[in-house]
Amino acid sequence: MALSVSIKPRERKPASRRLGAGSAFVVVFWALGPQIAAARPATIGARLYNRDCAACHGERGRGGIGLPLSLPSFQQNVDNRYLRRTIRYGRRGRIMPPSPRLSGAQLRSMVRYIRRWAGNRPATLVGAGKPGNPARGAVLFAAHCALCHGAAGVGAPSTGVTLSRPRSQPIMAPALDNPGYLASASDPVIRTAVVRGVAGTPMPSSRREGLTAKNVDDLVAYIRSLQNRPQPATPPVRGGPDIVGVSPDGLAPTIARLKDAVQAANMRLIRVQYLDQGFVTPGMENKHQVIVYSCDFGFLNTALQVDPRVGVFLPCRITVLQHRGKVLVMSVNPKRLSTLFNNAALSRLCDEMYHRYRDVIEEATF
Ligand code: HEC
Ligand code: HEC
Repeated sequence: MALSVSIKPRERKPASRRLGAGSAFVVVFWALGPQIAAARPATIGARLYNRDCAACHGERGRGGIGLPLSLPSFQQNVDNRYLRRTIRYGRRGRIMPPSPRLSGAQLRSMVRYIRRWAGNRPATLVGAGKPGNPARGAVLFAAHCALCHGAAGVGAPSTGVTLSRPRSQPIMAPALDNPGYLASASDPVIRTAVVRGVAGTPMPSSRREGLTAKNVDDLVAYIRSLQNRPQPATPPVRGGPDIVGVSPDGLAPTIARLKDAVQAANMRLIRVQYLDQGFVTPGMENKHQVIVYSCDFGFLNTALQVDPRVGVFLPCRITVLQHRGKVLVMSVNPKRLSTLFNNAALSRLCDEMYHRYRDVIEEATF
């Protein structure tokens, strides 16, 4: 359980004072939550980080679908306000979700935990600079920055750390026009990234790019101006988050037809199992909820070449369940992936995947 990993009384207390059974500790922990939060903020922060962030940013901030957070070069470039706000607002359209429900105390303890990875060194921002000219900044941006950050700062076609790029470019440039970024970064924070760059990532310093202090002022003014640009509406996701079909038949004949439909669509049937199999005592599974695993491996390989992280999200599973007298056949809508990854090649594949899953589900519920 995540709780027993992140909360290690051993680290802080002599053995004689250690709390006994793990479960008792958990109960005490929840009961005393607020007091403990005051006493051990970094530990609470670790627990929250592991729960809400580690899946994307990696254990101890090493990076993954999200950017690496543990690099000293990154940490010295950002103040705590930037970190707190980034967590609160997220980066809509760039995968990272907002966390509107975390309290100020929870945000602060998470930031304290993140700061531990770089030895608790405080941020040292460069000076504020002078007001710049956004129009001149736009020209400089197109020449020096757009190659990585995309035209008008929309971000690289992928995010975080990825293996599908050359070794010199393993970290994808974030979107600078993102409302979550612009609401979090003050001008000095933007300026610091541009002046210093981020050692250990492809982000160069302005000196290496041959830019003057005035150029940097113009670039900061340009990035700030992206805030006022209307954001393109998120494309509507046809059919919502799931593709759902209602079968005219009972559970068993529907599953039989689904298996046929999968094979007719040239997808390999991998296995059929109960939804809760492995989570409950064998024999006690809910027999009204079944998952059919299937895959087109040729297709999967093509998608993985576009972006290896797609494997985490690929549906490859169709659920059949009996609910209020109806038999439903459903899968995740692959079109959701395109809004997550913001990558044109992947969007085309997601479109194709959508049609295939929809056809299979239609066939099974015809
Ligand atoms: C070779 C690719 C590359 C180029 C060229 C580049 N950047 Fe970056 N930039 C990155 C990467 C990668 C990061 C993320 C670094 C990290 O992991 O913290 C980044 C981060 C940033 C950030 C911080 C954003 C954030 O979310 O933390 C700003 C601001 C920025 N770049 C501005 C610029 C500007 C302005 C230019 C042009 C002068 C530029 N960059 C040129 C790759 C690049
Ligand atoms: C679903 C994946 C995902 C989750 C969960 C997530 N992030 Fe992110 N995060 C990202 C991505 C992707 C980016 C970069 C956005 C871009 O490329 O434009 C990012 C950016 C960031 C940045 C800015 C880094 C920089 O270089 O300026 C910080 C800080 C951050 N995340 C912290 C967190 C924390 C703390 C949590 C947990 C509360 C969290 N994230 C949860 C995916 C995620």
